[in-house]
Amino acid sequence: MNTQILTTDNNDIQIAADILRKGGLVAFPTETVYGLGGDALSPESSRKIYAAKGRPSDNPLIVHIADTSSVYDIAKEVPDIAVSLMEAFWPGPLTIILPKKDIVPDETTGGLNTVAIRMPSHPAALALIRESGVLIAAPSANTSGRPSPTTAEHVSEDMTGRIDAIIDGGPVGIGIESTIISLVEDKPTILRPGFITRKMLEAVIGEVAIDKTLIEPDPNIRPKAPGMKYTHYAPSGDLTIVEAEDSEANEKQVSSVAEAINQLYENGVTQGKKVIILAPEEHSSLYPEDSVITVGSIGEGVTVAARLYAALRECDRIEAELIYSESLDTGELGGAIMNRLLKAAGHKVIYVK
Ligand code: TXA
Ligand code: MG
Repeated sequence: MNTQILTTDNNDIQIAADILRKGGLVAFPTETVYGLGGDALSPESSRKIYAAKGRPSDNPLIVHIADTSSVYDIAKEVPDIAVSLMEAFWPGPLTIILPKKDIVPDETTGGLNTVAIRMPSHPAALALIRESGVLIAAPSANTSGRPSPTTAEHVSEDMTGRIDAIIDGGPVGIGIESTIISLVEDKPTILRPGFITRKMLEAVIGEVAIDKTLIEPDPNIRPKAPGMKYTHYAPSGDLTIVEAEDSEANEKQVSSVAEAINQLYENGVTQGKKVIILAPEEHSSLYPEDSVITVGSIGEGVTVAARLYAALRECDRIEAELIYSESLDTGELGGAIMNRLLKAAGHKVIYVK
């Protein structure tokens, strides 16, 4: 299959819209990560999405809409708190889980009787939904298991030849996927942390719970967001997080973490391995210059989130075999970032005194 590269110009959006209406697949930018879009109400399109990603089909897709009225077309019940969340955070990086109507095929929801809905704020995403007249099912546009794409080049690495078109809207703004909140539990529950934090949600609807499997991952408990159970975001090399036992950052801890990482680096190099270190910009001078990849700035979670997946993909590009990362638990987004980094590392952490 020939994969067309399109721009965000109106003409190209029309071409992409036409592909979607005919049941094809188009990758497009959102404010979080690039999505791999197909017609959410077509079982055939959803099957194509799973095939292109190589994704298990029990892992449900998010339905992207451009008008709040669409929620009422696909959700069976829309409680008042859903309306409050929509008013406060849409368009934007929040996905809301509600009971689904029959019109949403099982192929899209992985057989669940609920549906995940989000209204993205990226103008190209909104234009594509509006122009096509299609509600767009879109997982992140990466091959299953790889880091989510934050540029059109990342999408192209994974999807060229597998989908009809890619809309190149440049690098995305946020860099990690939307926050997911479920409104079908006893209490509103965060299933995936993201740019919209618990604090922001609680300011609008009061108490919000966090899915237990996010706090204490247990392979025997099935997460409420099926996607959270899979190894994810992982580079091909073996990634380990190295962090201070006592997480209050001070100079002594920064230097003991750096010392430990440099020791691991030496060990790896001695074994003939290609070793890469991930660290915030402020710490890059603590490591061998040609082996460190920087990931944003301390205290500025937004810069770390924006860089994280590109950094993990960079590790693959240079064929890193061993990767050691500092903890990137920094700023308001620290929790969401560490959720991704820990999954990418398969929860391998070395604690340093
Ligand atoms: O920011 C985002 O949300 C991006 C952009 C493209 O919008 N999309 C994205 O989709 O991250 P994906 O498919 O990579 O992740 C969707 C997550 C999965 O963990 C999936 O299990 C969960 O949402 N999910 C989808 N529908 C669900 C449902 N009905 N109940 C529980 N979890 C659901
Ligand atoms: Mg994904």
